[in-house]
Amino acid sequence: MRSLSPRRAAFGILLLAAAGQAAAQAPAADYAAYPCLSYSLECGKLATRRPQLKQLDGALNGNAEKGKQLAQARNSGNCLACHVMKGGSQPGTRGPDLSHYGNAGRSDAETYSMIHDMRTRNPDTLMPPFGTNAILSDPEIRDIVAFLQASK
Ligand code: HEC
Repeated sequence: MRSLSPRRAAFGILLLAAAGQAAAQAPAADYAAYPCLSYSLECGKLATRRPQLKQLDGALNGNAEKGKQLAQARNSGNCLACHVMKGGSQPGTRGPDLSHYGNAGRSDAETYSMIHDMRTRNPDTLMPPFGTNAILSDPEIRDIVAFLQASK
């Protein structure tokens, strides 16, 4: 292989630097169509679904096995993004560990309300309002409550 003269090498470095600069100046992606969730920016003050306290109506009647599937499916509850859960893999740890939730002695009703809309307890929660925002239906939340209560 021919060795590069110092002058050629310097030219090559200049070219690389110019290419890097061009990449840095590429137009930014347009995120205008995405909803703004900020509490401080103007866009974040647009109407949104207010926190909604929903009580569990009647007996739970949830299916724990279905609840487990829903909780772990990335395109459904995706609770694993933030919680360690029984039987789940690659969990996030931003929320509390729920793998022994059934031992905590929390009622079905309380658990249901929290999953429906955690903002009723903590306005700054990171947890999505699954019921209010219709991410999960009423029967789906019941199934997940059954799964959590069976996690011992
Ligand atoms: C983006 C992160 C995130 C996701 C996704 C998430 N959670 Fe949470 N969750 C939290 C955080 C953070 C808390 C702590 C409470 C708070 O925010 O004040 C919490 C608290 C809870 C609690 C109360 C635990 C306790 O011991 O007090 C339950 C129950 C719960 N989550 C269930 C779920 C279920 C079920 C799902 C999926 C359907 C889910 N979470 C999805 C972040 C998340």
